[in-house]
Amino acid sequence: LARGVAEPDLLGRHLVISAGGTREPLDPVRFLGNRSSGKQGYALARTAVARGARVTLIAANTTMSDPAGADVVHVGTAVQLREAVLKAAADADAVVMAAAVADFRPAEYVTGKIKKKDGVEPAAVALVRNPDILAEISAERPRAGQVIVGFAAETDDVLANGREKLRRKGCDLLVVNEVGERKTFGSEENEAVVLAADGVDTPVPYGPKEALADVVWDLVVPRFE
Ligand code: CTP
Ligand code: CA
Repeated sequence: LARGVAEPDLLGRHLVISAGGTREPLDPVRFLGNRSSGKQGYALARTAVARGARVTLIAANTTMSDPAGADVVHVGTAVQLREAVLKAAADADAVVMAAAVADFRPAEYVTGKIKKKDGVEPAAVALVRNPDILAEISAERPRAGQVIVGFAAETDDVLANGREKLRRKGCDLLVVNEVGERKTFGSEENEAVVLAADGVDTPVPYGPKEALADVVWDLVVPRFE
C-alpha cells in the first residue's frame, strides 16, 4: 500500500495506542519483563499522526524518542499501563493494544535488594495475575462505538489460536503474528494477519511495521460509525 502524502482520514479522531513491554519489579534492581521493543506501537503512532489523528501513546519501557505530534505517557508496570490506558480511553475513538503486557507479576515486592547466601537455596518467586486490559476495555467500551484492536504473537497454530483469542478478548480486530527465534522482536519488519470479529481475515505480507500500521488504520476507519 504505497502512500505519498497520507490522506487525513483520521482527522478529528482521538486514538490511544499502547506500546513496548511492561516490567514487573521483584526488588529495586530486578524485574520480570519481555522482549517487546515498542517499534510496532511507535509505527502505529507515527502513521496515525500522519493521517491527521490526535494520538495518545502509552509507552512501557521503550527507548525510542517520542514520536512528533503524539502525547506520550511513559509507564513501567501492567498496573500503571492499565491506569493510563483507561484514563486516555475515556474519550478515544479507538484503542490499540500493541504493548506486551506481563501476564503475571511477583506477588511481593522486596524493598531491599534480594541477597544470595552461601548454602541457602533460592526461594521460588510467587506470582499473581495482572489485569487483562484488552478484555476489560473491550467489555466496557468507555466510549460508545469505540473500535478496539489487540495484538497477539503466537508460535504455533497461529490462526486457530488467534481466532480463539479474538473471541475471548471481545475486541473488534486482532493482529496476529508468528514469532520465533529471529522473527518480530526488535526487528524493523513484520508479517501478520489481521482477524476481524465479523469473520474477515486480512493477510499483511512481510514488510515495514509502518505498512502493517497503515493496514490496521485502513481497517479501523470503516468501523467508526
Ligand atoms: N493484553 C492485555 N492485558 C494483559 C495481557 C494481554 O491488555 N494482561 C493484551 C495485549 O496488549 C495484546 C492482547 O492482549 O493486545 C493479546 O495478548 P496475549 O499475551 O497474546 O494474550 P493473553 O490473553 O495474555 O494470552 P497468552 O496466554 O497466549 O499470553
Ligand atoms: Ca500474555
